[in-house]
Amino acid sequence: MKILLVGHGGREHAIALALARSRVHPELAAYMSSINPGIEELSSRIYNGSMQDVGSITSIAKGERVDLVVIGPEEPLMHGVIDQLLEAGIPAFGPTRALANLEGNKALLRKIISLAVPEANPIYRECVTRGQVCDTIHAVQNVAVKPVGLTGGKGVRVSGKQLSGEAEAEEYALEILVRDGKVLIEELLDGEEYSQMVFSDGVHLMPMPLAQDAKYAYEGDQGLMTGGMGSYTQADQLLPFVSESDRQKSFEILKKVIDAAQGEFGEAYHGVLYGQFMLTRSGPKLVETNARFGDPEAINVVSLLRTDPVDVFMGAATTLPDKIEFEPMASVCKYLVPEGYPETRPEPVSVQIAESVLEEEGTRLIYAGAERQRTGVVATGSRFAAVLAVRPTVEAAEEAVERTIHRLDLKGVRHRPDVATPALLKKRVEHMQRVMQGQ
Ligand SMILES: Nc1ncnc2c1ncn2[C@@H]1O[C@H](COP(=O)(O)OP(=O)(O)O)[C@@H](O)[C@H]1O
Ligand SMILES: [Mg+2]
Repeated sequence: MKILLVGHGGREHAIALALARSRVHPELAAYMSSINPGIEELSSRIYNGSMQDVGSITSIAKGERVDLVVIGPEEPLMHGVIDQLLEAGIPAFGPTRALANLEGNKALLRKIISLAVPEANPIYRECVTRGQVCDTIHAVQNVAVKPVGLTGGKGVRVSGKQLSGEAEAEEYALEILVRDGKVLIEELLDGEEYSQMVFSDGVHLMPMPLAQDAKYAYEGDQGLMTGGMGSYTQADQLLPFVSESDRQKSFEILKKVIDAAQGEFGEAYHGVLYGQFMLTRSGPKLVETNARFGDPEAINVVSLLRTDPVDVFMGAATTLPDKIEFEPMASVCKYLVPEGYPETRPEPVSVQIAESVLEEEGTRLIYAGAERQRTGVVATGSRFAAVLAVRPTVEAAEEAVERTIHRLDLKGVRHRPDVATPALLKKRVEHMQRVMQGQ
């Protein structure tokens, strides 16, 4: 069996590692726009190209006569790579262009939720005039202001964080309105965020363990938002502040969203749907959905797959197996990022990795913004690599990650030591308790 993997981040390295441990030992080819050393090592063929060039991806898949294409990032999905692959008769992991709009068009998502499961929506309005912007902000007060389309995680601003007061919210919303002709304004939700990802084959939906990531750059949730500095999952697949009943509600919400979207477009949703939820006083609300795995969350969840990963990825592209099992273990991953990230685009720095430390600690390094050069591995400027530990408890996994990072003693990169610590988890639980009490 031959599989073409598209993408070059930590998410895709974790997928490559999972596929490589399958009992069928698939041959891997990789299409990347920068050469991830971890994926390179696992692949028999490497292709270098743009994530928008879906024509090339399709021709490579045909030329290599692959049995399956796995798409990691959103960009090729938005450019219709799955539609092209399906036309060529090649099984592919990921939704069609129309269904990928569950990620690419935040206003469309809100409309679908309001039809399928309105209780999961915040109050919202897609504004197309200045009058609508001003009226909505004046009426709602505390808001999230969002461009309708993709902005690489950098377009959303919320009251109390990036926006202080009505005037600033209005100014930012009008800036988007002038640029895009429309802007989405939502009621500010209060609660704790978590992600529920599901595999879908268009008929069956199967949940993955819940995960919580740490978006802010620095300890104590300070600094700018990032792609995610780390994430954790529990052995029971829940989170310290999410009950089984709330987990079931989140799963049902995603099921209704997928059903409604499939009905709307008359196409089957294959691949992963990522639900970013906020647990509020009135239950789980959907902040947004993504048409692919989260990164870092994929690193946790894919590494925990007990069901053969090829059965899972091929299954989502065709028909899912009857059940998908995960190791009953906790996992913690923390990203190492270059000093200066994310405020600046740091210059590449050379990083010396002592592989023996990873072996001794029983932890794993997942490469992301990394390249191999003659002198060794180089951190290229964005998130460099994640350290992952799988243990019976979050506490043990967190300690193993910290010990590993300490012993690796890497120069030029840093991480967030508080991710998944007992103190941070306690803070999340206490925040949730205050929200439930309406304080
Ligand atoms: N309605 C909302 N209420 C509170 N916070 C929100 C709301 N919408 C977004 N946010 C915050 O902003 C972040 C980014 O928004 P999101 O819609 O996920 O856009 P993207 O990930 O594309 O930047 C969320 O993870 C959440 O922390
Ligand atoms: Mg988001």
